[in-house]
Amino acid sequence: MNDNEKLISEATKAASKAYAPYSKFHVGAAVLADNGNIYTGVNVENRSYGLTICAERNAITHAVAMGMKSIKAVAVYSPDSEDPLPPCGACRQVITEFAAPDAVVICCGSNGNAVEIPVQELYPMDSLHNLKKN
Ligand code: THU
Repeated sequence: MNDNEKLISEATKAASKAYAPYSKFHVGAAVLADNGNIYTGVNVENRSYGLTICAERNAITHAVAMGMKSIKAVAVYSPDSEDPLPPCGACRQVITEFAAPDAVVICCGSNGNAVEIPVQELYPMDSLHNLKKN
């Protein structure tokens, strides 16, 4: 299994743990960190719908808590989307906070197709790119 296949497999396994009793749309994400480790996340919904957190952001917060400094790749998978599933706008913003310059997002769907997209293409115009980190 190459790196991408492993990442897709972890996102797929994670999706079975999604907590999505309202939308019934289950999502799993897996982040490949600069340290070579993989961290997963799932969407976690809430009865106060707006508090729902996507799988991608949960995978990233998991990775940061485990010491990740930068993202090499993120795979996203849903058994409830036939077509490859791209991250929502909020997740794209959060991915760019940690993405390495050549980071990619691998969007996967239940039909087995996967599309690899550079983060630069998914989020080309970051209005806050001049805000410096301390
Ligand atoms: N969702 C994700 O977790 N990631 C995406 O990329 C798209 C949407 C979740 C949020 C919500 O729980 C459900 O999918 C339906 O929007």
